[in-house]
Amino acid sequence: MRAKVLVTRRIAAPALDYLANYATITLHRANRNMSRRELEQAIGDKDGIVAMLSDSMDREMIGKAARLKVISLCASGSNNVDLPFARERGIVVTNTPDALKQAVADLTWALILGCARRVPDGDREMRECRFKGWAPLYMLGHDVHGKTLGIMGMGRIGCEVAKRARGFGMRVVYHNRNRLGRGVERETRAMRVSFERLVRESDFLVILAPLTPETRHRFREPEFRAMKPNAYLINVGRGPIVEERALVKALRKEWIAGAGLDVYEFEPAVGRELRRIPNAVLLPHVGSATIETRARMSMEAVQNVVAVLGGRPPISRV
Ligand code: GLV
Ligand code: GLV
Repeated sequence: MRAKVLVTRRIAAPALDYLANYATITLHRANRNMSRRELEQAIGDKDGIVAMLSDSMDREMIGKAARLKVISLCASGSNNVDLPFARERGIVVTNTPDALKQAVADLTWALILGCARRVPDGDREMRECRFKGWAPLYMLGHDVHGKTLGIMGMGRIGCEVAKRARGFGMRVVYHNRNRLGRGVERETRAMRVSFERLVRESDFLVILAPLTPETRHRFREPEFRAMKPNAYLINVGRGPIVEERALVKALRKEWIAGAGLDVYEFEPAVGRELRRIPNAVLLPHVGSATIETRARMSMEAVQNVVAVLGGRPPISRV
């Protein structure tokens, strides 16, 4: 019997064509996420699911999927899946970290430069006809080159971010629970420091960590008070790692110079206060959003499903 696979959002067409060779596809075509109820109703008879980070694959949801053998995330982060429960049920969980690491690293740099050099501010100046000509103290940001880049959560993406920092002549420090291998440290020229030092020394503090009970609200008032007043917080990991209320206060009181955010504590909602803060650059979770990268992620996600259903190892298992 042909396998049944649910795909919860439209993905790149070649990936759907590939999957159609192996399985009967149920595709959620609407231009919005599946509701919980829709997901519950659709998942009952499926062997596999290609899921997005917005699909909550918690215990209750997995419990409704009696035949499910694989949850294939079209994403890197897996905090939307109850991993221990999936393991208990013998469900393989896969993701697409290699497909997206370069694009997310590029976007991290867009936020670093966008914040430090006030790119959105400048764009608004031009559109609102406020530009009156070059002036020595007009629209000043901060230097990026020669500064200290700090990375919390130095995984595949973090290493790519660090490699790009070499071109900017930056010092790179990182904080992970475990030290990276010597070879990786040499390649990225990154030095492991304590979380406290990371917070104190970074001029650009990039969050790339996964969301776990340990990282949730890791940044609250004390962390922002400990950061340099010229520092920028860049969050491309997961929103709830930062307590949004504390960040707004830190920005308003200028404990830090600014923030560049691609993810939000209450995503997709963004607090009104945060939206009104001038020294923040806000992006709508677009870290991996390029045509090339999303095509690769789509293809890897369906290849992972086909591999697991065919009894073969997937490209990337969480
Ligand atoms: C995006 O946030 C991802 O986890 O892929
Ligand atoms: C800027 O355009 C400068 O010449 O300083």
